[in-house]
Amino acid sequence: MIITGIRLATVDDTRAFGRRLAALLRPSDLVLLTGPLGAGKTALAQGIGAGLKVRGDVTSPTFVIARLHRGEVPLVHADAYRLGAKPDPRAEIDDLDLDATAEDAVTVVEWGEGLVEHLSETYLQIRIDRLDDDTRIVDLVPHAGDWSARLERL
Ligand SMILES: Nc1ncnc2c1ncn2[C@@H]1O[C@H](COP(=O)(O)OP(=O)(O)OP(=O)(O)O)[C@@H](O)[C@H]1O
Ligand SMILES: [Mg+2]
Repeated sequence: MIITGIRLATVDDTRAFGRRLAALLRPSDLVLLTGPLGAGKTALAQGIGAGLKVRGDVTSPTFVIARLHRGEVPLVHADAYRLGAKPDPRAEIDDLDLDATAEDAVTVVEWGEGLVEHLSETYLQIRIDRLDDDTRIVDLVPHAGDWSARLERL
């Protein structure tokens, strides 16, 4: 089941949606956040972090690509944006050793399309788009696993 056209009017709506989504998540999940600059990927990751009750603020890291937030369910929040400029971004991703934490944590990756799918046999893709009126439209696209069934509980 693909869910399309979820409309999020404000950044608080996006964070609240992330908290709802977190209820479906469990350790070893991989979630890819896609969408243009300023779409609201980090805002959604903040909501997910809140829903998972992780410690520390989920932010756009300036110097680190990935950060582990400990909590009830740990969250690895990665932002691969700057890896796009590297000659071999996939190698850079592998250097992060995301696999080391992936089993015990929910891993949420911004700008990870084409870079991190190999980390898991199954993942949830969340596409965020920004409309002219500044609201956001979200599509949820399951890739294998039991994501379809889980999305029905959203
Ligand atoms: N409905 C909305 N959902 C999310 N963000 C919104 C919304 N409306 C306005 N905003 C604003 O848009 C910005 C989204 O920023 P955010 O850092 O979450 O985007 P991003 O997709 O992570 O960007 P980047 O590609 O730079 O990482 C914030 O300034 C937020 O306040
Ligand atoms: Mg961001």
